[in-house]
Amino acid sequence: MSVSDHKIAITARRSGPLQGRLRVPGDKSISHRALILGALTVGRTLITGLLEGEDVLNTAKAMRALGAQVKRSGNGAWAVEGVGVAGFAEPEAALDFGNSGTGCRLVMGALAGCPITATFDGDASLRRRPMKRILDPILQIGACVETAEAGDRLPVRLAGARDPIPIIYRTPVPSAQVKSAVLLAGLAAPGQTTVIEAEASRDHTERMLAHFSAEISVEPEGAHGRWITLTGQPELVPAPIVVPADPSSAAFPLVAALLVPGSEVILTDTLLNPLRTGLTTTLMEMGASIETLGIRSEGGEELADLRVRSGALRGVEVPAARAPAMIDEYPILAVAAAFAEGTTVMRGLTELRVKESDRLAATAAMLRVNGVAVDIDGDDLIVHGRGGVPGGALVATHMDHRIAMSALVMGLASEHPVAVDDGSFIATSFPGFVEAMRALRGELG
Ligand code: S3P
Repeated sequence: MSVSDHKIAITARRSGPLQGRLRVPGDKSISHRALILGALTVGRTLITGLLEGEDVLNTAKAMRALGAQVKRSGNGAWAVEGVGVAGFAEPEAALDFGNSGTGCRLVMGALAGCPITATFDGDASLRRRPMKRILDPILQIGACVETAEAGDRLPVRLAGARDPIPIIYRTPVPSAQVKSAVLLAGLAAPGQTTVIEAEASRDHTERMLAHFSAEISVEPEGAHGRWITLTGQPELVPAPIVVPADPSSAAFPLVAALLVPGSEVILTDTLLNPLRTGLTTTLMEMGASIETLGIRSEGGEELADLRVRSGALRGVEVPAARAPAMIDEYPILAVAAAFAEGTTVMRGLTELRVKESDRLAATAAMLRVNGVAVDIDGDDLIVHGRGGVPGGALVATHMDHRIAMSALVMGLASEHPVAVDDGSFIATSFPGFVEAMRALRGELG
């Protein structure tokens, strides 16, 4: 299937200064949500800047299989003709989400309140990832798992609820996917569905629901949490969506520009949502030069251009409470930490173990094999930076796009080239990554 059919080995070599402007592709989280929520509106949602990566394209296919009309009219320009809340039709074949946990889990939530049955499946990486975190709340809402072994892993056959029940749900893990799945299921339920999270996670679902005229309120809960209440059975009204550039993709050229001496790069239109900016906060604590230029607002989200200049970094301690705001950025932060002077301690990384790979183990292995001293202590990752990285090794990417891109960024600044065994999964989130880095004068091939 799709990207995993052909392995693509890629090598990165020490490069001269990186220079130029780059708009990385659209935000993955917002792109999935634009398609799914667009499919639940009554009318036509116009989307610009949609990420056309494999993960999002699989969500588009799923929306079509469930009865929405989803059309591409140009580069990143898409239109979704919705079927209305709870209006999905039963798909003829299994829904294949490829490598995408977000697509799969959000659609499970959206389907949970519809009286139809569907099979959810994905690639070998997605088949290893836990689904109980989604199935638990949606079973409370009234959905049923019909799979022979009602297990925690894909493939899962799910029957949506005929009469969905509004629930109050405290998320047991800090996860925007779990929160979003409950809210999407709650759309079909009468009355109020509430999600309580102890640590605030990315809030694109809440913002987009409000953008589509749903009644949703967000109150603080404890020191870092939120209490989110959605009134069910709204008529979602289409509104245009402009997808900003993905800060989780911008992270790769951003760190590359910090590490390659003499570099100056501008990353345009980058999403500034405060629940996504943990990496830039941490890098600035490490001494990075990152300027935020021209802050503006579009479609309920803030964006800006980021000017990044290379310079020395020092080790820091990254608190566990920051993890939800930078959960996808630890592999690339670990690369920055390896080039810093001193030790960086990243605390509270339990959730990294259930990403596209066991990212805690894969990140440590990526660094070790390239001559960096790393420890894993419980759920903490400790990188002993020495101001530079020997490199020279082949990195196992384990079907994980972010491990692949992190390793290649490391190779642009290390003494010896760094290769990855398979860069094909980069297309799930950042199609054109190699070409974009080459355009900045990075030596990738
Ligand atoms: C995402 C949430 C995060 C993140 C993923 C995208 C989302 O996962 O890792 O890449 O769009 O909701 P968790 O919710 O499992 O932390």
